[in-house]
Amino acid sequence: MLVARTIHALRTALAEKRSAGRVGLVPTMGNLHDGHLALVTAAADECRTTVASIFVNPLQFGAGEDFEDYPRTFDADAAQLERHGVDILFAPGVDEVYPDGRADTVVVAVPGLSGLLCGADRPGHFDGVATVVTKLLNMVTPDRAYFGEKDWQQLVVIRTMARALNMTTDIIGVPTVRAADGLALSSRNQYLSQDERRVAAQLHRTLIDIREAVASGERDFSALENQGCSALASAGFEVDYVAVRDAETLAEPRDDGRALRVLAAARLGRARLIDNLRLVTG
Ligand code: PAF
Repeated sequence: MLVARTIHALRTALAEKRSAGRVGLVPTMGNLHDGHLALVTAAADECRTTVASIFVNPLQFGAGEDFEDYPRTFDADAAQLERHGVDILFAPGVDEVYPDGRADTVVVAVPGLSGLLCGADRPGHFDGVATVVTKLLNMVTPDRAYFGEKDWQQLVVIRTMARALNMTTDIIGVPTVRAADGLALSSRNQYLSQDERRVAAQLHRTLIDIREAVASGERDFSALENQGCSALASAGFEVDYVAVRDAETLAEPRDDGRALRVLAAARLGRARLIDNLRLVTG
């Protein structure tokens, strides 16, 4: 596995490989767990050359969020990526990605979508994600790029952006990887104390309850959202939202047969946890 720290080194390495077949990109912020490795495995299965990036993107962290504390475990991450078949690890510094400085960088914004749900609680977060993903896609120009379905809103923002900006990369969503009790894997789970970790699986159980109610015919989505919020608050969460939404647009559901998703975000101690599930309405 080649480690490229600059865009020039990345492009030089890719120039030799591109003609051999499809290039896949797995963008990450490092501190890898099995959820990231599922993205890498999907990319390695489908692509001739797999590029993974590790870059803790300052632009997507708000004031008072965990940018400084975000766990950085480069050596362990690099070893895992190599074992899982990554050909090129792109690990640029902040100056390589934002040579004009954070304040003067050109920002990519996806209006509407970026202000909903997690965007309402984390203003500017999705502009930071859309900007860095645009940059990474332009640096690597992959045929496919892989993102976890755990961050469903992020996936919708990136798909919408790629379509709107006529990008040629296919955006691939990979199913969420969960612990045995259902908690979606996340680098931020390590902020949970032992007691909080036991409670955390309630987030997934709450979404399952909503999924089962909808599968049995319940269509009062507001009532289900309120029940979900109450269940989480009783378990000790500080709830940001529980929302049933159109899976592709994140708009409020209408009775039009479109695919639906239930999404939730809630804080437990230092950790802000998110999760989502597909709803079966047919
Ligand atoms: O999902 C993440 O880890 C990040 O938001 C991403 C897509 C790597 C952009 O920094």
